[in-house]
Amino acid sequence: MIGGIRPKSQTPPGERHAVELHWESTKMSLTTFDPSGSAANKQASGSAATAKVTVPSLQRKKDLRQPITALTAYDYATARLIDEAGLDVILVGDSLAMVMQGQPDTLAITVDEMLVYTRGVRRAVKRALVVVDMPFGSYHIDEREGVANAIRFVKEAGAEAVKIEGGANRASLVRRLTDAEIPVMGHIGLTPQSVHRMGGYKVQGKTLAAVDRLRADALALQEAGCFSIVLEGMPRELGTILSAELEIPTIGIGAGPDTDGQILVLHDMLSLTFAPPAKFVRRYADIGASIRAAIGEYKQDVESRSFPSEAESYHLPTGVQL
Ligand code: KIV
Repeated sequence: MIGGIRPKSQTPPGERHAVELHWESTKMSLTTFDPSGSAANKQASGSAATAKVTVPSLQRKKDLRQPITALTAYDYATARLIDEAGLDVILVGDSLAMVMQGQPDTLAITVDEMLVYTRGVRRAVKRALVVVDMPFGSYHIDEREGVANAIRFVKEAGAEAVKIEGGANRASLVRRLTDAEIPVMGHIGLTPQSVHRMGGYKVQGKTLAAVDRLRADALALQEAGCFSIVLEGMPRELGTILSAELEIPTIGIGAGPDTDGQILVLHDMLSLTFAPPAKFVRRYADIGASIRAAIGEYKQDVESRSFPSEAESYHLPTGVQL
């Protein structure tokens, strides 16, 4: 056996689903197929909540009408908490330009910066599918550069899929990326990278012509090979129609309750922001208030010399005297 690889001819009869390449030392196999339809399938049916989320397992969730859960994360600690809570998808969104870096929009963030944040998330996540936003400018010049940048996210940060904004105008790029074995999540409706063209962050798809365009965009992205599409900032009715028309899962943010899954920006749902939330944001905690209170208390304790206490101090060993 060369390097732990068992030749095909030695595969025991009847083990059709099993081993062609087998690494004895690491107990890993490249081609081990579970005849029951894979661990991801069990997870979709609820029998193994810890099974790795994959592109096919998300499709199965849509097929079984099970809601897909997604949040953004940009660092190790929050990504780990989200993963341990059992969410399906973690998006390293370019929203990090705004919520982590305090920029006015998402436009300035670079591939190199996104790579740094993505690596922290990647180290934390064991189960969720890690999707990374391709930042503005990283796929707009030409498709070759778009593919090269997407490959960097996979090779240098461990991304399992990339997300790009745009509709039919991105179909050819989606084909190139999927040809390069990189799963692509589409993103239509309110696309923040188009903020200047849209004239602000405005709900999209409010006229029949706009609805028709978004339907055509969604179908073009599906046809080109996207495994899922984010529907952002659109009337509920349109979110409902697109989710019913598409075979691939839709993930909504401000697109109503009938999409196949939901995503929120973590900082929005935790109230770790400094502006009033959009209508679609539900606030599940007030972490901003908790942090503010904790910092105020610490300041007071330091100023009153009640921190650190005797119990929080180290001492010389017995017998050592100054
Ligand atoms: O950047 C981001 O966080 C996103 C989500 C809002 C979908 O694109």
